[in-house]
Amino acid sequence: MLHIYVETYGCQQNEADSERILGLAREMGYEKTDRKEDADLIIVNTCAVREHAELKALSNTGQLKHIKEKNPDLLIGVCGCMIQQEHRKEDIKNKYPYVDFVFGTNMTDRFKEIVSEVKKSKRRGFFVESYDKNPGTITEGITPVRCSKTNAWLSIMYGCNNFCTYCVVPYVRGRERSRKPEFIIEEFDSLVKDGYRDITLLGQNVNSYGKDLDEKTSFADLLKTLASKEGDFVIHFMTSHPKDATKELIDVIAENPKIERHFHLPLQSGSDAILKAMNRRYTRDSFFALTEYMRERIPGISVTTDIIVGFPGETDKDFEDTLDMMRRIRFDGVFSFVYSKRKGTVAAEMEDQVPDDVKKSRMGRLLALQTEIQTEKNSGFVGKTLRAHVEGESKSDPGMLSARSTEGKLIHFKRTPEAEKLIGRFADIRITSAEAIMLFGELINTSNN
Ligand code: 5AD
Ligand code: SF4
Repeated sequence: MLHIYVETYGCQQNEADSERILGLAREMGYEKTDRKEDADLIIVNTCAVREHAELKALSNTGQLKHIKEKNPDLLIGVCGCMIQQEHRKEDIKNKYPYVDFVFGTNMTDRFKEIVSEVKKSKRRGFFVESYDKNPGTITEGITPVRCSKTNAWLSIMYGCNNFCTYCVVPYVRGRERSRKPEFIIEEFDSLVKDGYRDITLLGQNVNSYGKDLDEKTSFADLLKTLASKEGDFVIHFMTSHPKDATKELIDVIAENPKIERHFHLPLQSGSDAILKAMNRRYTRDSFFALTEYMRERIPGISVTTDIIVGFPGETDKDFEDTLDMMRRIRFDGVFSFVYSKRKGTVAAEMEDQVPDDVKKSRMGRLLALQTEIQTEKNSGFVGKTLRAHVEGESKSDPGMLSARSTEGKLIHFKRTPEAEKLIGRFADIRITSAEAIMLFGELINTSNN
């Protein structure tokens, strides 16, 4: 029996890709293992969105040297967004001689062929082609090995056409390619049949789903179709681009309770000048209007966002504008990132890069403000009952279970044999206390699954 270990960095899209890789490996006779030491094949699926993610993947790839010394038959492959960049491919080639092969993001579906070729030739293999040469096709019919029994990823499209000036994704993932609705619906149906009640539709910009297909369809259409299916489930989706998030889409969410009461809408900056320099193609006013429409149509909806601190040219005033938007919108959650220069992007060449100490102090202020807002907002849930999907043991406390409400709120509650039976199901939880990043509650009803 052969074993494969896959280590995944970065976003959910990468996790979904790793599950496809595991599916292809299974067809070759490789079973998944959670221990690197037991593996015959190790795959490192990398991320390139920020330098930190790359350095982490490189350093952990470095650690594999010791495992290979103990087990010279071990095959090591590195793939994903980082590898799609020529300079990183060269780094692996020159500095990590124990890595047997690399393959880019448009080569994932050729995994079996790649592994067979490396095994047969007994030579290192570098399977990287730019998206100009190889736009990447979508292979249907691969059965992924799903890593969670309760939550499933469902990729609906790949790539991005937006070219935000800070972002490397369009270079390492190519142009938007949507899966045909019938394949998505088929996969969705089989997930529901298999008992998944928490399904996340994935794409770099799900709001432009279908624009590249011959048939006329849209993300709103797709969501409407999936939400009308029989069964007890909740549909999540990410990520949305504000310029493509339509009122029609918000109306579909409003009308379908099986779609999460949560919208992740990346703001990136609250300054119009910076948004323009980022090539985001919306303004602070249009963004604000969109969130107002969501809250008007879907009372209780939670809105979360991404913000980049220290984009080139960001002045104190620009940063104040970001804080101002945070105060006006009062997001339920903010994923904040210090700007990271990405080779080949437009912003990397901009003058006025913001010094590290300024970035750091702005980040500190942003976090303090958001913690205050979130603590206040979350305390408003105390005494209320939320319906939540029970996911399993809490990551921070094995004595607790964690659940996610349809608003996307993380809730911890006491682990009991009775409560454990609800893993993978829905439960009503009364909120007893709240912190900035999570709520605590007690189970009030076990009959509602
Ligand atoms: N530096 C910092 N953050 C970035 N993101 C994307 N590119 C960069 C970068 N170069 C952030 C954006 C995006 C999230 C997934 O990562 O906020 O929404
Ligand atoms: Fe990157 Fe912008 Fe595309 Fe998101 S929409 S992946 S931030 S280029």
